[in-house]
Amino acid sequence: MPQPIFEVENLGVAVNDLDAARRRSQQGVMVEPYGPALPFGWVDAILDVSFSVFPGEVFAIVGESGSGKTLSVMGSLGLLSPGAKVSRGTVRFDGQQIRPTRSLERQRSSRWRRKVRKRERFLEELLDDEWRHIMGTEVGVLFQNALGGWNPVEIIGAQAGESLDEHTELTITEIQDRVLDALGEVQLPKQSKYLSFPNELSRGQAQRAMLAAALVKAPRLLVADEPLTGLDAGVAAAILKLIRDMQVKRKMAMIFITHDLAQVASLADRVAIMYGGRIVEVGPVDEVFHHPQHPYAEGLLGALPRPGVDRLRPIAGDVPKLTEVPTSECPLVPRCDYAAAICSEASPGLVPGRSGEVACFRSEELELRGI
Ligand SMILES: Nc1ncnc2c1ncn2[C@@H]1O[C@H](COP(=O)(O)OP(=O)(O)O)[C@@H](O)[C@H]1O
Ligand code: SF4
Ligand SMILES: [Mg+2]
Repeated sequence: MPQPIFEVENLGVAVNDLDAARRRSQQGVMVEPYGPALPFGWVDAILDVSFSVFPGEVFAIVGESGSGKTLSVMGSLGLLSPGAKVSRGTVRFDGQQIRPTRSLERQRSSRWRRKVRKRERFLEELLDDEWRHIMGTEVGVLFQNALGGWNPVEIIGAQAGESLDEHTELTITEIQDRVLDALGEVQLPKQSKYLSFPNELSRGQAQRAMLAAALVKAPRLLVADEPLTGLDAGVAAAILKLIRDMQVKRKMAMIFITHDLAQVASLADRVAIMYGGRIVEVGPVDEVFHHPQHPYAEGLLGALPRPGVDRLRPIAGDVPKLTEVPTSECPLVPRCDYAAAICSEASPGLVPGRSGEVACFRSEELELRGI
């Protein structure tokens, strides 16, 4: 078994949600059962997310909108927007730890605590340098909103070459050549798009340019967060093919986040299914699609349109707000056809299943339908 290129262990992400924090404290939920007490106003949204990505494989993360896909992956990469913070967990790139096990724990006033905190900060800074270097040279990221990802007042070519400028010894001419080559690879007219400002690009062109900016670094890991959202079907299909071609040609590992199981089927080797800020099933795509072990996976697959089936089987009910997911029972209880008394006794964690891993107390006895 090769060493994973990217490993996430017990990641927790908290979000700043004052209303949810107030509701929790009124209900007497002051201390999270999974980790340290968070400062008031911060509430767990992602709990205990662990996954590994192996060199050259496409690892898909799928789930309904609001299930915590972006928070988990951007949290593991240190790219969260304000209002969200990693509260615990460890992240390794190529076996080397790049994100610290950061604690949002309240600063205590004792001298001893201050000393420990100083040492923790020193370690965090060392890891931050390492992380910046790896993000600048080894990891390419495609964001959901490609147009919003660019600085509006700088030309595309200069922005696409920034990470090489910062992290390598290449000359300006060498960097320009690399950017022009990458623009050609993603089938954009090189010279004109190098000099374009972001507002001169269509959505599809902006996503292609973002792919070029990622490829410029020759990354070993490409992370794509719903890169086809908001694109016309034809443009989306062409960009999906381009991403796949580049991933195969460059032999990159890829984390592909989507809510679309058809994209998973056409692209991924393994898939993790997320619900309520947790991974509920993970395994090879063929196994999970044909023989799901988690009721939520069965529900998602049942909602796929299929020839000969004239009615979709959507999962009844709504996705829970991440800050309101109970930690004392299985988060799927209100929506699960198979819920039994045991499901309300605790929240199931991921354990090895027939293939891959599953977080359901009843998975061994259930005969679930795949496609
Ligand atoms: N920066 C943030 N600050 C506060 N809440 C956030 C933040 N980012 C995400 N959330 C909350 O977490 C929920 C799920 O987040 P997200 O990871 O974006 O879901 P997904 O990518 O699966 O659609 C959002 O609906 C929002 O309520
Ligand atoms: S643990 Fe119970 S409620 Fe949760 S998915 Fe399994 S059967 Fe459904
Ligand atoms: Mg998202």
